[in-house]
Amino acid sequence: MIPPEHVPPIPASLLEPLPPVPAGCTRIALIGDVVGKPGMRMVCNAIPWLRRLLHIRTVVVNAENAADGSGLRCKDYRRLVEHGVDAITLGDHAFRKREIMEVLDSQPNIVRAANWPADGPGCSLAIVPIGDGLSMAVTTAVGRVFMKPVDCPFRAVDRILAEVAPEVSIRLMDFHAEATSDMQLMGRHLDGRVTAVLGTHTHVATADEQILPMGTGFQCDVGMTGPFQSILGRKIEAVHTATIKGVPLPFQVATEDVRLNGTWFDAHMETGKCMQIGRIHWRESLIDQFVAQAQRDRQVL
Ligand SMILES: [Fe+2]
Ligand SMILES: [Fe+2]
Repeated sequence: MIPPEHVPPIPASLLEPLPPVPAGCTRIALIGDVVGKPGMRMVCNAIPWLRRLLHIRTVVVNAENAADGSGLRCKDYRRLVEHGVDAITLGDHAFRKREIMEVLDSQPNIVRAANWPADGPGCSLAIVPIGDGLSMAVTTAVGRVFMKPVDCPFRAVDRILAEVAPEVSIRLMDFHAEATSDMQLMGRHLDGRVTAVLGTHTHVATADEQILPMGTGFQCDVGMTGPFQSILGRKIEAVHTATIKGVPLPFQVATEDVRLNGTWFDAHMETGKCMQIGRIHWRESLIDQFVAQAQRDRQVL
């Protein structure tokens, strides 16, 4: 065994330092679609480090794929909240595990698409405490391009925003959509009216994080948290065989190369404008190094 003093510290290149949180701002993150057991393990283990090392104060997670790749169970919801997740968004797989409807109807920090039938389970607006006596509005809608027919997401989110009190200036919209054109249009539609429009659903992070002209942070898709040796989180071989041969097969969640994808943004606490935005891309091995380093630090003390 290598003596602790001979183990090198975490290489700086593994963890790009983020710029400091500007005065008057609070740092928030949306973690992209958490897929199955590997994704759940990764996000739960990462949250303390996201808070400690990246100074992220509020964590929002898209958990539509948490339950074996499709849907969210009550126990998954509880585990995420127990590990410090402040709010949960869902997508087109929201109701795949029917038991979650009970959570959607009873818990204040989980939302389903605003453009689904209004009399369905759950609601589409969460007002989440984020410290310093402030709250953040969280909403979500699903896109219509290359997806199942639903109501207009643009008019739906307008209706939701009309319900938000003016003093709740920090507002996050998770737009769960397939087409980048749809996502960009939502960013422009809400520019200046919300703090950030961040996309989920494709499971692939886009390199277009930016602040739009009227102060809204934007990114087409924040990416996936789960196994990257996969097709969108599922085992490659089954997806390949099913596609090539046209035979239906179960798509099991993959296991290898687990990573966390998400996006942070600094929200001005008075104006609700986005002041900085950036991507997070952590491999699971990085968490192991954080833990090992912390153990070494404790031994030194
Ligand atoms: Fe997803
Ligand atoms: Fe989805």
